[in-house]
Amino acid sequence: MADSTKTAKLTIDGKDYELPIHSPTAGPDVIDIRKLYAQAGVFTYDPGFTSTASCDSTITYIDGGKGELLHRGYPIDQLAEKSHYLEVCYLLLYGELPSPAQLEDFESRVTNHTMIHEQMMYLFRGYRRDAHPMAIMVGVVGALSAFYHDSTDISDPWQREVASIRMIAKLPTIAAMAYKYSIGQPFVYPRNDLDYASNFLRMCFAVPAADYEVNPILSRAMDRIFTLHADHEQNASTSTVRLASSSGANPFACIAAGIACLWGPAHGGANQACLEMLQEIGTPDRIPEYIARAKDKDDPFRLMGFGHRVYKNFDPRAKVMKQSADEVLDLLGVEDNPTLQVAKELEKAALADPYFTDKKLFPNVDFYSGIILEAMGFPTSMFTPIFALSRTVGWISQWKEMISDPQLKIGRPRQLYHGETLRDYVDIENR
Ligand code: ACO
Repeated sequence: MADSTKTAKLTIDGKDYELPIHSPTAGPDVIDIRKLYAQAGVFTYDPGFTSTASCDSTITYIDGGKGELLHRGYPIDQLAEKSHYLEVCYLLLYGELPSPAQLEDFESRVTNHTMIHEQMMYLFRGYRRDAHPMAIMVGVVGALSAFYHDSTDISDPWQREVASIRMIAKLPTIAAMAYKYSIGQPFVYPRNDLDYASNFLRMCFAVPAADYEVNPILSRAMDRIFTLHADHEQNASTSTVRLASSSGANPFACIAAGIACLWGPAHGGANQACLEMLQEIGTPDRIPEYIARAKDKDDPFRLMGFGHRVYKNFDPRAKVMKQSADEVLDLLGVEDNPTLQVAKELEKAALADPYFTDKKLFPNVDFYSGIILEAMGFPTSMFTPIFALSRTVGWISQWKEMISDPQLKIGRPRQLYHGETLRDYVDIENR
C-alpha cells in the first residue's frame, strides 16, 4: 500500500486522532482505521460492510454509480464480446491478458485436470436423488481436500497453483455430475478435445445411448454466462472465501465455504428465485400485482433480479445477458417465450415506477440469465451451481492475492455488544 499524504481527523471526547487516507487508482478514498482501537480504544460499526474496505486488491473494480465493471482494467462488455472464459480466467489469475503461447499452455493445464478421482463417484451416491445440486457441490468441493493432498499446503506456491488449476478444471465436472445424479442418468466423463463450455454442455446433456453435438451458438452463450460471472470484487461469497482462508484453511475448504454463501437467495440463489418468480407471474397482466407487492412495506416480497448493493445504475452484465437471451431464444425458435415476455414487460414496468428509479433499483445479472439457462434445458436448481463454477476463478484469484499478501492477518471483526453484563449462574431449582 502506497504511503498516504492525506489524513482524516477524528475527535473523541475532545481528543484528536489523525487517520491516514489511502487514495486508490480508482474509487473513493479509504480512511485507514487499523490503529484506531490501539490509539483511541474505540471500534467502528458497519454491519453489512456498507462503508468498509476489507482488503487492498488489484483484481476487479466496480463503479456502481456508472454501472462499470473492470477486470484488471478491462471492461466486462469488451471481455464478453471479444474474449472467452478461459482467457478471462488467465487475466484474473495472473493480471494480464495471455500471449497465444501462454493461453495455449493455460488451456492445456486446465484441460488435463478435468477428471475427478474415480473414488469420488461414491460420494455422489451417498446423497438423496432429490438433493439440491448446491448441497452436493458444497460437500463434494470440500471433499476435494481429502483426495488431493498434494495441493493443500498453502505456503507452497506450486501447490497453490495446482489447487487453482484443479478447481477451475473440476468444478464443471462436479456440477454436471450433481445434475446427472439428480435425474438418474449415468455420469458423462469430460472430453478434453472440447472447449470449456462445450465440454460442460456435453457432460450435462449427452447420454451414452446417443451422439451429442454441441451447438456452437449455445456453447458461446454458455461461455458468455461463465465470463459474466467470473469475478465481482468483494461480494458476500468472495468475502467468505477470504475470511475462511485468513485462518490458513486449505483452498478446497475455502471454495466450499464460498459455494455455501453463494447459495442464498440474496446472492447467487437469486437467478433461481428470479426465474421462479417470472414463472409464477406467468402473464403480463399480473405484473401490476407483483409490483405492488414489491413496494408494500408489510410484504417481504422483493422483485428478484432487481437491485444490487453496489450498482446504483444498470448492472453492465445485465445488458449483455439480455442481448444473449434474445440470441439464444431466437436460435431455439422460442422468441415468443412467455417467461421472456413477462421479464421484458416487468423490466419496463419497474423502470417506469418511481419506487424503483428513486431507490436506484435496476435489473441485475440474474434477471436474464435464468431465461437463457432454462431455454438451454437446465432446470432451475442448476442455475446457482453454474454461477458457482463460473465464480470459482474469481474466488481463487482473490484467495491467491490474499495468501500472497505479507500483511495477511486472520479476519476477526469486532462487535457492538448489547447483551447482559456479568451476572451469577442461577441453579435450576431457583429459576
Ligand atoms: N424489490 C423491492 N424493493 C427492493 C428490492 C427489490 N428487489 N431491493 C431493494 N429494495 C428496497 C428495500 O426494501 C429498501 O427499501 P427502503 O429503503 O424503503 O427500506 C431499499 O430498496 C434498499 O434495499 P437494501 O436491502 O437496503 O439494499 P441492499 O444493498 O442491502 O440489498 C440486494 C441489495 C440484497 C441485492 C437487494 O436489492 C435484493 O434483495 N434484491 C433481490 C435479490 C437479488 O436479485 N439478488 C441478486 C443480487 S446480484 C448477485 O448476487 C449476483
